[in-house]
Amino acid sequence: MSPSPMIVRTVPALRRAIEGLRARKATTALVPTMGALHDGHVSLVRLAKRRAKRVIVSIFVNPTQFAPTEDFGSYPRTWKADVAKLAAEDVDLIWNPDVKTMYPVGFATRILTEGPATANLEDRFRPHFFGGVATVVGKLFTQCRPDFAIFGEKDFQQLRVVTQMAGDLDLGVKVVGSRTVRERDGLAMSSRNVYLTPEERSSATVLYRAMKQSAARLRAGDDAEAAMAGGAEMIVSAGFALDYFEVRHAETLAPIASFKDGPMRILVAAKIGKTRLIDNIGV
Ligand code: PAF
Repeated sequence: MSPSPMIVRTVPALRRAIEGLRARKATTALVPTMGALHDGHVSLVRLAKRRAKRVIVSIFVNPTQFAPTEDFGSYPRTWKADVAKLAAEDVDLIWNPDVKTMYPVGFATRILTEGPATANLEDRFRPHFFGGVATVVGKLFTQCRPDFAIFGEKDFQQLRVVTQMAGDLDLGVKVVGSRTVRERDGLAMSSRNVYLTPEERSSATVLYRAMKQSAARLRAGDDAEAAMAGGAEMIVSAGFALDYFEVRHAETLAPIASFKDGPMRILVAAKIGKTRLIDNIGV
């Protein structure tokens, strides 16, 4: 049987636990999550274990990154299953604060994000999002003081934003991106996939197919506008309302039309029924 991870819920208890984990100069890696863990999260934990001696996973559904119209209240919460998964991976510590611990009465400080956070992708549709993410991740980094922090590439703009923040604020954390884990039919794993009806779930495979098709056309030297329009058309025909389907510079996220301008990444966000999905691939 796997040993149970230590579970802490207060900042003083976290400080003591972190001191213990870092004893004898042991390196630590943090995997920030909102719970509802799936195999994608497990792959982040496994990468964390390869990078550091000790692994901390935070589970906190962060209200400040949800707009009032979004799914904070209904976001899946699967605490027991999450702990079992983390125990099976031999995680050392689970940091599970409540909202009052993270945002006590009178909390009045936010991290203002620019650069990749204003790339006109997720920020166009979720203007509150990166301020909330950067503030909570900034807190998680200062609370846990990890050497490494592992984030999934599935939230590609988020990965760029937290990398920028960790560097800009000299937080001493090396942010590491981890490859997206996909279902057998190509759908990127996400805690929100549980919202999909069976019909929506089968339509959702179009996102990956459309990105792959557009990527192949870009690699073949097709005109970028035409290649991207073809993928967008596939997604809309499958019943999605498209927020964006764009090719961007893989590091700066600036608009890009050719390999001459740098490495390319295709990013998509689209809604089917009540579920908004995001995904991306390198070209
Ligand atoms: O990607 C997520 O699950 C969240 O945005 C994160 C990084 C845990 C911050 O709440």
